[in-house]
Amino acid sequence: MKCELFKKTAKINIQKISLLRRTKLKKPQTFLDQIDILRKEKFTNPNSLVLPNSEIKPGILSSPPKYAHLNVTNRCNSNCTYCIHAANRKPILSQNDANTEKMKSVLQQIVDLGIESVNFSGGEPLLRPDIFELIHFSEQIGLVSILLSNGLLLPKYWQELGKTGNHYLILSIDTLDPELFKKQRGVSFKAEWKGFESALKLRDRFPDYVINITATVTKSNLEELPNLVERFSSYGVGIEFSPLHDLGAELKESNVPLDIVLVQKKISELIEMRASGYLILNSDEYLLHFPKFFHNPSQLPESYICRCANQCLYIDATLNIKPCWSQTFPIVGNLENESLQEIWFSPYFEEQRKRVNQLDCDRCWLLCTAEPSLR
Ligand SMILES: C[S@@+](CC[C@H](N)C(=O)[O-])C[C@H]1O[C@@H](n2cnc3c(N)ncnc32)[C@H](O)[C@@H]1O
Ligand code: SF4
Ligand code: SF4
Repeated sequence: MKCELFKKTAKINIQKISLLRRTKLKKPQTFLDQIDILRKEKFTNPNSLVLPNSEIKPGILSSPPKYAHLNVTNRCNSNCTYCIHAANRKPILSQNDANTEKMKSVLQQIVDLGIESVNFSGGEPLLRPDIFELIHFSEQIGLVSILLSNGLLLPKYWQELGKTGNHYLILSIDTLDPELFKKQRGVSFKAEWKGFESALKLRDRFPDYVINITATVTKSNLEELPNLVERFSSYGVGIEFSPLHDLGAELKESNVPLDIVLVQKKISELIEMRASGYLILNSDEYLLHFPKFFHNPSQLPESYICRCANQCLYIDATLNIKPCWSQTFPIVGNLENESLQEIWFSPYFEEQRKRVNQLDCDRCWLLCTAEPSLR
């Protein structure tokens, strides 16, 4: 009964969202489809063709990336057990985040390279006092801004965020179980939920706001994944999943036993829910690989080519650029000393890009790298 009620509410909200976005959900969307829709809606970027092919040296990759990920700070106000940015991992805390002017110059270079959307991430981006200025600036120069946040500061700042022109907010919530939430993310679920409620207020005020949830799938929250989808769908909020990775932080849940049959069961349930109209923003192809990933994280689908260094641009808070997150790869440039165009089209980046394509790496199945590679 409860499930039926959720389904009905979810469908109404799905219709509402699709109307607001002026598209019909004829088939399930992914978060990348959503970004494409927002890009098309945004006025055409006059700078997007600044690199005519004739200017590019022969033999050098000629296309700009599609997605920019800008880590605006390494600092965080949360303590997620699995994250290298957690507030209690003091050694990596940095006071060296690039200043406002430098960040603005980077955003301008992102536009000039022909990229149309920028994902503000971190650490926790809302900790930067100038974050609203940066988001507003990015919207003004023609970028679709996406804010990825833990949401803890939204009760304080949602109105300010609303004034920036941003229309796309992603909140990280992995579980609705307060005990597990505290264990995994190090802060109280109550505080997190206040952040989520503030996001809803933002959408009430600005009805075309897109709010999504991103949830890291661990061995501990597997059981509740369909409940997470139902709960957020009932608010007309989409959800995307990414499996837990060993990114260098101590994985405190490593002694939780892996139940691979449960992984398979839950992924099948998610795929069925997606087909029936729930706002699950992953592709089926991506979700289908989860069981194999949990079984053996270094095993990727046969004939998979990682395109993260072609499709995505990663810039850290000190303006270093790397082809992907992995320590296997060197820094290919720094925007303090070189221009983005020089770095992106450099022979050195191209060399590393080939290594990425050939999976000469640690291997991963992260949402932000694998989904663009599957397109
Ligand atoms: C590093 S956070 C930065 C933005 C913001 N602080 C937040 O939590 O949304 C970006 C995303 O990475 C995810 N993440 C962090 N460590 C991870 C890990 N070891 N494996 C998979 N995802 C991880 C987080 O859950 C979050 O959704
Ligand atoms: S996942 Fe986000 S909120 Fe959690 S510690 Fe990392 S940066 Fe902070
Ligand atoms: S698959 Fe390899 S190259 Fe691609 S993002 Fe993951 S670690 Fe980097």
